[in-house]
Amino acid sequence: MERWTIDLSTEAWRSDPAAKRAVDMLRSGDLVAIPTETVYGLAADATNALACARIFEAKGRPQFNPLICHVESVEAARLHGRFDNTANKLAAAFWPGPLTLVLPKRAESPICDLAIAGLPSVALRVPSGPVMRLMAQRIGRPLAAPSANISGRISPTQAEDVIADLASDLGLVIDAGACAVGLESTIVAVSGGRARLLRPGGIEREELETVLGYRLDPVTSEASDTVPEAPGMLSSHYAPRAGVRLNATSVNPGEALLAFGPIGPDHADRATKTISLSATGDLREAAARLFTALRELDQTGCASICVQPIPATGLGEAINDRLRRAAAPRA
Ligand code: TXA
Ligand code: MG
Repeated sequence: MERWTIDLSTEAWRSDPAAKRAVDMLRSGDLVAIPTETVYGLAADATNALACARIFEAKGRPQFNPLICHVESVEAARLHGRFDNTANKLAAAFWPGPLTLVLPKRAESPICDLAIAGLPSVALRVPSGPVMRLMAQRIGRPLAAPSANISGRISPTQAEDVIADLASDLGLVIDAGACAVGLESTIVAVSGGRARLLRPGGIEREELETVLGYRLDPVTSEASDTVPEAPGMLSSHYAPRAGVRLNATSVNPGEALLAFGPIGPDHADRATKTISLSATGDLREAAARLFTALRELDQTGCASICVQPIPATGLGEAINDRLRRAAAPRA
């Protein structure tokens, strides 16, 4: 596995010879781990079924759950999905950014059936992370990319996380440091002119509702585990090895503590290790730290991680969604 470290604060990375290596690998059907503003993605050419099969193999995904296809622009997205007024509004407001739109797939789109799990719809995203956009633009095709972790494990927000899970399956990892958002994209399905929230994520429900002009229904676990899955199958996800106890107001002996806000829980001194998601109670900061903090606490070998209550508003909806899955009984 090759590693290419880049500094996004300068434009020099765009002309680095390693960028051409990455594109060549993607063209020849290899897997490349690519950073986005949300999490690192395990990317392959979405029109190459063999390359997409490698994604499922590398992740150990139990089923052919459809993949998000990343493109460089709204114009590119239009080649693959059918946009109605609602989809146009959401794309104009939130792309590039952490929003995925599930739209009816165009018959002429070359995205392979495996990438979309044979569904009539396609999940499209224009990330604000510039590396994924540049790669998609240079290969001239959409890039299918789920989060670059072993299925069911914590999503990767830095290159080290990707390498820990997938080194032997990767041609190249592009290391651009920590992801700014730290939670996956919000997934919205648009059909018949209506939007449905399938997965809370980096764009807040309230922001979507402001643009749409109506309230979105609560995410049902069936919807967030998404259509093709057996209901409840993915309810355990993002699972650390340790148990996870939510809404803790007191620390039990032997527990590590994932803290939030300025006021600690009772018996905070009992914690075997403490990481604060945000001492000031800032949800954006907490989102960006969540997955790294879970990994770090898990690595201490503690039996259980207790988590202080986190408000369910704004990004807190997605944070609580991920934590519930991390705490769910394991299959
Ligand atoms: O931020 C993100 O979204 C990251 C980065 C890499 O872009 N990707 C990501 O992908 O989280 P993944 O594979 O871990 O999650 C994709 C979700 C799955 O739950 C899948 O079932 C859903 O998107 N999905 C994909 N296509 C769909 C479709 N046509 N209808 C409904 N759900 C779909
Ligand atoms: Mg994932």
